[in-house]
Amino acid sequence: MKTKQITLTALEFDNSDEFSALEKETIEACKNAAETAWAPYSGFHVGAAVLLDNGEIVTGSNQENAAYPSGLCAERVALFAAHARYPASRAVCLAVCAQKDGLFLDQPVAPCGSCRQVITESNTRFGSPMKVILYGSEKIVAIENSNDLLPLRFDSSSF
Ligand code: THU
Repeated sequence: MKTKQITLTALEFDNSDEFSALEKETIEACKNAAETAWAPYSGFHVGAAVLLDNGEIVTGSNQENAAYPSGLCAERVALFAAHARYPASRAVCLAVCAQKDGLFLDQPVAPCGSCRQVITESNTRFGSPMKVILYGSEKIVAIENSNDLLPLRFDSSSF
């Protein structure tokens, strides 16, 4: 028997000063995207923005539905839209934030398990992991290797 330990490396920042200009733009885009959420059931407005290797930024927001499971998270709306629009372009970075009662959460919000599965498949498809930036107004967290977000994922070769 062998014991294996799985670790996640996350970087914490007080503000966006240390991010590149394009990453700052991506963070701003996800903040704007939160305004486009359709979330009458949860009141939780999530914004996501994908920076592609062609320099384009594609945004998404959560889209809820009266048939609850038919709704979709902001991250998947953004990633699927990005890959549908630019199927040859790698996602370099994904920024996510959330608003409640018109205010950005002070702490970062992390993608759900299903979104992590989609993030990791995009990483595999394009051969390199996107960086994930989780924006909170008092703390920003960055995960350089987003495959770390879903160890032992389905279809993984991580064993
Ligand atoms: N939601 C997202 O858009 N992204 C996440 O990472 C977690 C949750 C949405 C789904 C639903 O519309 C609302 O937030 C409350 O769960």
